[in-house]
Amino acid sequence: ALVTLRQLLDHAAEHDYGVPAFNINNMEQGLAVLEAASSVDAPVIIQASRGARSYANDIMLAKMIEALVVMYPDIPIVMHQDHGNSEATCASAIRFGFSSVMMDGSLKADGKTPADYAYNVAVTRNVVDFAHWVGASVEGELGVLGSLETGEGEKEDGHGAEGKLSHDQLLTDPAQAADFVAKTKVDALAIAMGTSHGAYKFTRKPDGAILAMKVVEEIHRRLPSTHLVMHGSSSVPQELQDAFNAAGGEMPQTWGVPVEEIQRGIKFGVRKINIDTDCRIAMTAAIRATLGKNKGEFDPRKYLKPAQEAMVKVCRQRYEEFNTAGQASKI
Ligand code: G3H
Ligand code: 13P
Ligand code: ZN
Repeated sequence: ALVTLRQLLDHAAEHDYGVPAFNINNMEQGLAVLEAASSVDAPVIIQASRGARSYANDIMLAKMIEALVVMYPDIPIVMHQDHGNSEATCASAIRFGFSSVMMDGSLKADGKTPADYAYNVAVTRNVVDFAHWVGASVEGELGVLGSLETGEGEKEDGHGAEGKLSHDQLLTDPAQAADFVAKTKVDALAIAMGTSHGAYKFTRKPDGAILAMKVVEEIHRRLPSTHLVMHGSSSVPQELQDAFNAAGGEMPQTWGVPVEEIQRGIKFGVRKINIDTDCRIAMTAAIRATLGKNKGEFDPRKYLKPAQEAMVKVCRQRYEEFNTAGQASKI
């Protein structure tokens, strides 16, 4: 059944687990998430970015998720707007059946310029007002995602922030987080602690200087009942990089967010963990491998099925690592 983010994360908080939120753009990705979840009895957060909505078309995406809800009646599913950039984006998502929206007011509506605090509070508060009238949940974001190593915000996905950001802008201020939650009444809060979107997060295995999990602990200490969200949380595992390169891809050595750091976050209030890049790499490595071995293959099903299976493996692994597995039937 379709559930709200609030319902799911309240349960996760009560039972000390985290829920990966996987991005989808097409049928294969949607099926992969649900196949993985149903194999381990995990509740699901499926999220669609603005890019996903325009790629797949709102109606197609909404009907596809509706179909997944029917196909997997035992799995609670949250349908979430990822990185909404305006009230209009959030309102139209709700109209298309999303049970939860992210209003990312950390950036202006262009999706790349860091916004000031007053703007973020005002726009997020507006979205909370109308979303709650109709029973949808809202995730807000405070702090700009980006690299503590280079000072660059949102650099890896083509949405580069203008100019260098200060260390402070790249880390959520715990005192401000408390004020933000009180003023906006968001259901979940995304925070910045040094991660960025995409594959190229860190140039070495991250330590506390470049991945500030201490910030998560401090925010949780001040806001023990607020559900925290980690964006940019792909782990970019070595084995996926190796599989991608072995199949003819060219990905320079990189490091993501280690699973054990996410597990530590889950002990400190992190309930929603956003993952897109790991699924993209797994799928594309499988497609490359299949087509590399069978140069005459031209039936899309022959390479999309292995791609889907590769994504199922990633999703199932995260459900197990975050203790989401076994929870669906308890909700
Ligand atoms: O926020 C980033 C997600 O990975 C979605 O990416 O905007 O390319 O669909 P996208
Ligand atoms: P990754 O690029 O690390 O997978 O992060 C995805 C994300 O945060 C989507 O909002
Ligand atoms: Zn994100």
